Amino acid sequence: MATTSDSAAPTVLVASNRGPVSYQVHEDGSLHAKRGGGGLVSGLSAIGPDAGALWVCSALGDGDREAVRRGVGEPGVRMLDIPADVHSDAYNGIANSVLWFVHHMLYQTPLEPVFDTGFRRRWASYEEYNRAFAAALAEEAADGAVVIVQDYHLCLVPGMLRELRPDLRIGHFSHTPWAPPEYFRMLPDDVRARLVRGMLGADRLGFLTRRWADAFVRCAGEADPEGVAFAGAAEDGRLVVRHSADEGPGAVRETVVGVHGLGADADFLRERAHRADVGERMAVLREEIGAGRRTIVRVDRTELSKNIVRGLLAYRQLLDDRPEWRERVVHVAFAYPSRQDLAVYREYTAEVRRLADEINERYGTPGWTPVLLHVEDDFARSLAAYRLADVALVNPIRDGMNLVAKEVPVVSDEGCVLVLSREAGAFEELGEDAVAVNPYDVVGTARALHEALTLPAGERAERSKRLAATATALPPAKWFLDQLHALQG
Ligand code: F6P
Repeated sequence: MATTSDSAAPTVLVASNRGPVSYQVHEDGSLHAKRGGGGLVSGLSAIGPDAGALWVCSALGDGDREAVRRGVGEPGVRMLDIPADVHSDAYNGIANSVLWFVHHMLYQTPLEPVFDTGFRRRWASYEEYNRAFAAALAEEAADGAVVIVQDYHLCLVPGMLRELRPDLRIGHFSHTPWAPPEYFRMLPDDVRARLVRGMLGADRLGFLTRRWADAFVRCAGEADPEGVAFAGAAEDGRLVVRHSADEGPGAVRETVVGVHGLGADADFLRERAHRADVGERMAVLREEIGAGRRTIVRVDRTELSKNIVRGLLAYRQLLDDRPEWRERVVHVAFAYPSRQDLAVYREYTAEVRRLADEINERYGTPGWTPVLLHVEDDFARSLAAYRLADVALVNPIRDGMNLVAKEVPVVSDEGCVLVLSREAGAFEELGEDAVAVNPYDVVGTARALHEALTLPAGERAERSKRLAATATALPPAKWFLDQLHALQG
């Protein structure tokens, strides 16, 4: 544990599975660092490099592990070398295969999930992995420091950390949806209670929308009926969970549940989208699309929740129902690799490719490729597609927020129409100016695409302007600072 005399001990700490940097070992044995982006990176930068913040994360691959072993690291980052098998069981086996599936409601329930002894072994690893984070945070944090733990990978950390360091102010933020109680109830009762109690170790829980916050509150009351005395709106309107505290018999502690709808980073996006590499990619894309054609753009990590396959089916339906669009529209679909350690993700990626090929074979002509599918991650090319988009298709089955829905209107050159799933967190804020879709309804989505493609230019521009304003209301820096200040009280 850091002592008060240790003036260098961090007063703000962030914990997440994936950190802001990753390492690769090159053939000559040298280590190369790659820095990532995202809301948390720019959010944390808002407190400045001198604030002495510390980001605790896990080593993910061989390069990261080698960096830890060689003592190579970035200032302000501590990477934990958790044994690879423990990490794999926790990350692939529980976080991505169980918790992600529960919160996004992805199971095909006649056959799955099956909570067998293999699950119990992986769950033990999940506990061990959470314990490693709690121990590292407890060791590093200054007295009374603020710790903000991220996501479903680390649900047990708040409770474990509170036991070790009751002096800390602990927050947890969920970047995913939270499952409704009827679905959460699928988990074994003890696991459900462990997850809720782990989360309730925090002083404050953050969610991206009111819908996910409410779902957590409802789950909390049900999963731990003996521990939770009250879960709901308090007299002053705040959402709270009052529960028996670890401080002793009869003690009651309150966990506040807040909503922080992360927005797009307008300044960064607009500047980045006008650099030369984006211009080059726009020229290539224009060539591939062909002159005078409209574009329906989607950009996703290929996650099962993103619903890329039904998006392609809807586009095929559009070409069937409205032959007048043939040769006049191109579906630009960027589906970047994600979680390829999981067979079900690999199979899904293969299905995306198969369907795109099928559409191209069935409808394509010598001068027209109906679907332009790209699967290699290229941020500059994503921004180029954003700028060119006439229509943005964002149709997830369920999504915590979906930042693409917020980014495209900010970057698009001519303003774009957003076709948006009502199950995306972003729908709460953007729904009014988007064309809404039920993500399962392929015929309805095809109709929405037609509506979006034919929206009069004036209305399209107006809606796009309003979407961009709403999408940038809470940029990452403010999103992070709001949480920090709320925890600091
Ligand atoms: O989008 C939800 C989310 O949990 C993010 O918070 C997080 O960055 C990401 O998914 C985790 O993805 P990965 O498994 O690739 O680290």
